[in-house]
Amino acid sequence: MTESAEQTVGLPVAAEAVDAARAMGQEAAAHRQADLIPILVRAGELYYQQDAPEIPDAEYDDLMRELVAIESAFPVLVTPDSPTQRVGAAPTGAFGEVVHGRPMLSLGNVFDEDELRAFDQRVRRGLGLPPAPAPAPELRYVAELKIDGLAISLRFERGRFVQGATRGDGTTGEDVTANLKTISVIPGRLREPATAVVRGEVFMPKAEFARINAAREEAGLPTYANPRNSGAGSLRQIDSRVTAERRLSSWTYQLIEDGPDGGPVVASQSEALARLAALGLPVNPDRAEGLDIDAVCRFLEEWREERHGLPYETDGVVVKVDRFDQQARLGVVARAPRWAIAYKFPPEQVETVMEDIVPYVGRTGTLTPVAHMRPTKVAGSTVARATLHNLDEVRRKDLRIGDWVVLQKAGDVIPEVVRSIPDRRTGAERLFEMPATCPVCATAIVRDEGSVRHYCPNPKCPARLSQEFAHFAGRGGMDIEGAGWSVLEQLLERGLVKTRGDFYRLTVDDLESLDRFARKSAENLKTSIERSRRRPLARVLNALGIPQVGEQTAIDLAGWIASRWPSEGTDAGEWTALVARSLPGVTAEELQEVPGIGPVVARAVAGYFADPETASVLADLVDAGVVAEPPARRVASGSGFAAEPLAGKTVVVTGTLAGFERSAAEEAIRAAGGKAAGSVSRNTSYVVAGENAGSKLAKATELGVPVLDEEGFRRLLAGEA
Ligand code: IVH
Repeated sequence: MTESAEQTVGLPVAAEAVDAARAMGQEAAAHRQADLIPILVRAGELYYQQDAPEIPDAEYDDLMRELVAIESAFPVLVTPDSPTQRVGAAPTGAFGEVVHGRPMLSLGNVFDEDELRAFDQRVRRGLGLPPAPAPAPELRYVAELKIDGLAISLRFERGRFVQGATRGDGTTGEDVTANLKTISVIPGRLREPATAVVRGEVFMPKAEFARINAAREEAGLPTYANPRNSGAGSLRQIDSRVTAERRLSSWTYQLIEDGPDGGPVVASQSEALARLAALGLPVNPDRAEGLDIDAVCRFLEEWREERHGLPYETDGVVVKVDRFDQQARLGVVARAPRWAIAYKFPPEQVETVMEDIVPYVGRTGTLTPVAHMRPTKVAGSTVARATLHNLDEVRRKDLRIGDWVVLQKAGDVIPEVVRSIPDRRTGAERLFEMPATCPVCATAIVRDEGSVRHYCPNPKCPARLSQEFAHFAGRGGMDIEGAGWSVLEQLLERGLVKTRGDFYRLTVDDLESLDRFARKSAENLKTSIERSRRRPLARVLNALGIPQVGEQTAIDLAGWIASRWPSEGTDAGEWTALVARSLPGVTAEELQEVPGIGPVVARAVAGYFADPETASVLADLVDAGVVAEPPARRVASGSGFAAEPLAGKTVVVTGTLAGFERSAAEEAIRAAGGKAAGSVSRNTSYVVAGENAGSKLAKATELGVPVLDEEGFRRLLAGEA
């Protein structure tokens, strides 16, 4: 079995096998996957660690192929712990191999300032410079944020992107060219006909991670632990349309380019970064150059908290000696350069009291134990709740109600209860048990044999309905101001709202009958309900809670609907009826025309609209007079979305605008076909600066990004700029 196990992980899988897996349906496939993973993990461990295979090679290969087929058919099922997702391992065979011209190195780590200063001393010694604190003006560092993603190497020939590969084992990586081409920030062509190898990191932005996890939750699947795993899994998809759906991004930080004399074109890391940006590659503007070690320490300090506000994850800072001649003198040892080091941010941990563990019924009936904690600030936000996933997890961590617990954010995003602190127990702590009956509808709770999941089997369980309705009335949906949880619960309990359309049939008298409501507050709520009756088509689509569809996909879908049925959009009221009439006939193939929608989302959307239950939901909304407004300023043409003044542009809004709330400004940008971003980089097309604009305005000026005032912004939206 010497070679075969290496080849098996992620074997190329025949299209027929993927089709066969698809035919099983997602639920059956998920069950089969749950069987396969432990068998393969165990077989792999026995083989690798003990050299004692338990099952024959051929069988192992077959089972692994079956798992890959299932995960290719249903990419939402891929979890970080699947044996198909082993990253950093030898190439798997599913992709072609790429031998790196120069090995892709890794970095040594340091975890505090003392260790970092020790690195500086080693560098000085290596270069024959005096030890600190003596000044060493000829030694300068570049500090870059360390991106927690997947390392990639891109080859450009005469300006054209020809090949991209993962790091693999550093010497040989996987050819993921087709998948990298789906990443919008990676240019197909450089601004100069340069021949070069460029290295960097592919990552999944935090917002995208949240979107995918929300979709998984909705599908009743376990959520991904962090953006890194789901980003890596997304890049190594066999079907690149699936990668395209995941909206990955990238920063580049290394340039290998030989000048006519055979030497490098640039002489330092800072010049290399400037040249990468000039070639049109994405370079992270959040960096600092020309630093001594004290300034490096200040950079770390500055980003320790600031990093939580970035739209992507960073787990540290990479510190590099700037000058290439000095880098060459320092050299490489054990696959890590002596001229660079990674400083890792400590994951911020806090202690708090877990006051309760409450089982929640999700939209799919799954019971999830949730820790309720004394609110505590961690990694940039206040946390009071954290999912404990399932009962097994509660037992494994020995968590008891009333315990002091250690809390952190997994991958700096998701609050996680790390462990209990048994030393602080008083004896008053209690064990948590799952309820025998649904806390909402009292149906007996079910736990399938061999599964960690408890669930309420009642499809009409009000817990499911109330979550669907909360989503409908919530911010990203119809945005009915004042319809919070307590109001919603009362409306459902009293039978005043039985369908979504019923919100629009409520009278002021109905509302006045609610607890703590008076005439005035009832009138106010009625006004906000009326105001929400008209919403952009994208918002109405999002409000429906279509599986796999979040805000961005709803926008993409609305744009496509508008271009597909252009003449029907004249009367705004027509759009709800149009969706009800036309969408049920749309196929998954047609939906894949929508930019940003791949096979997985397309199938989910087509399935949703084909469902008779959906037809009655839509008929009810039409009857209730819900008005979907057509997407703004989209004039259909033969080539899809024309007349989008901001197509392909990225706009950052900063400071306060007189005529727009921040969210309205961003919505206007998206409606005009542009992308609203949160931070300024060289890829930003415009910065719109209002009152009290701060660091983003400064960065725009520094990078030479055009800055507009509010008037300029309006002209831009109108297509006049
Ligand atoms: S430099 C010899 N710069 O971190 C140079 N690496 O822990 C090696 N990484 O394998 C890489 N951000 O995947 C460099 N700004 C950055 C980075 C970075 C993330 C990753 C990279 C590397 C790993 C080492």
